Amino acid sequence: MKFKTLSAALFTTAAVSVSGVSMAYDEIVSVRQEPVQPIQPAKVSDPQLVKLGAMLFFDPRLSKSGFISCNSCHNLSRGGSDNLKTSIGDKWQEGPINSPTVLNSSLNVAQFWDGRAADLKEQAGGPIANPGEMAFTHELAVEMLQSVPGYTVEFRKAFGTDKINIDMVTDAIAAFEETLVTPHSKFDKWLAGDDDALTPTELRGWDLFKTSGCVACHNGAALGGNSFQKMGLVEPYHTTAAAEGRSAVTGKDADRFNFKVPTLRNVELTYPYFHDGGADTLVEAVDIMGRLQLGKKFTPDENAAIVAFLKTLTGEQPRIIVPILPPSSDATPRPTPFAD
Ligand code: HEC
Ligand code: HEC
Repeated sequence: MKFKTLSAALFTTAAVSVSGVSMAYDEIVSVRQEPVQPIQPAKVSDPQLVKLGAMLFFDPRLSKSGFISCNSCHNLSRGGSDNLKTSIGDKWQEGPINSPTVLNSSLNVAQFWDGRAADLKEQAGGPIANPGEMAFTHELAVEMLQSVPGYTVEFRKAFGTDKINIDMVTDAIAAFEETLVTPHSKFDKWLAGDDDALTPTELRGWDLFKTSGCVACHNGAALGGNSFQKMGLVEPYHTTAAAEGRSAVTGKDADRFNFKVPTLRNVELTYPYFHDGGADTLVEAVDIMGRLQLGKKFTPDENAAIVAFLKTLTGEQPRIIVPILPPSSDATPRPTPFAD
């Protein structure tokens, strides 16, 4: 089989047929039996809702200070993260935990490091009202939006009414986030059949990733995001961060220090690593994972091969036209960045 031609065909938008099996429009199919599947391109079923969600994602007026938007901490120019150890919130507050990427977050089994939000819609209400993040309230957020004529027009187009509520806000943000997927990475091209997509070193890294046992936790299309696992399985992880992990949700002692396995998609872009941002580089993160999760010390050569493989997981970043936000009206409450 000519893999190169095949993979070219797989990335067109036309329906294609491989081995007599016809595939859905636009779907990218792996021709290999691997524990990881390609990321599928975004399917936009409601463009108006996505457009509104993008506006809200970029609008700092959803914060008390009028300065912090979702994009402040999930910067879409930087892999959907802030590249800080822990995030900076309202009044320059030091956040308790590292900001995970929003890219491919629709593939997560639940949202947040401890999974306390079931899905993106439930998650989206959190940061607006979190005093350590955007420090607003849902009531004030709705009041602000309702006072902006340009927004009432957009909400009417999306929901058939311009009586805005927080449910519509979180619906729209979630719909936008569902489009933040990163298909067509080098690794996905290889999965789709392009033998030349990976170098021998990258392939060796993938092999080590599988044979060492990384895939036990980092699997599925996102290479993670689908289970909660102990951080420090073989050797304990030392950190000064207070987060206790999944037990904060379940109340079970057995879940202490279990965190949602982060996706490794775009991991090259989303440094620093771990829930406390404790590892600055991939070399460090891979070394720690090897020792703490698997009891395995990689040679510098092996570590470099795994890092090379991880960098093949950087996909096509969502191309976003920065939304032009409608201006506040005379009736719009003004931000209070310095008030208590
Ligand atoms: C001040 C920084 C900050 C702002 C502003 C912020 N976030 Fe976050 N976000 C975080 C941090 C930190 C976490 C991880 C919190 C945790 O797990 O306890 C997170 C988690 C998430 C997650 C879960 C990802 C995962 O893999 O579990 C999503 C989705 C998300 N934020 C979307 C948003 C949206 C949408 C907004 C705007 C309404 C927003 N965030 C505003 C810092 C921020
Ligand atoms: C037992 C399950 C398990 C195994 C095995 C495992 N990991 Fe992890 N991995 C996790 C968990 C859980 C985290 C998050 C830990 C935290 O933040 O405290 C993580 C985090 C990471 C991160 C940081 C990602 C980020 O965005 O912060 C990288 C990189 C990583 N793992 C790579 C690997 C590699 C490479 C291997 C194999 C050598 C491996 N992992 C094996 C569960 C596992």
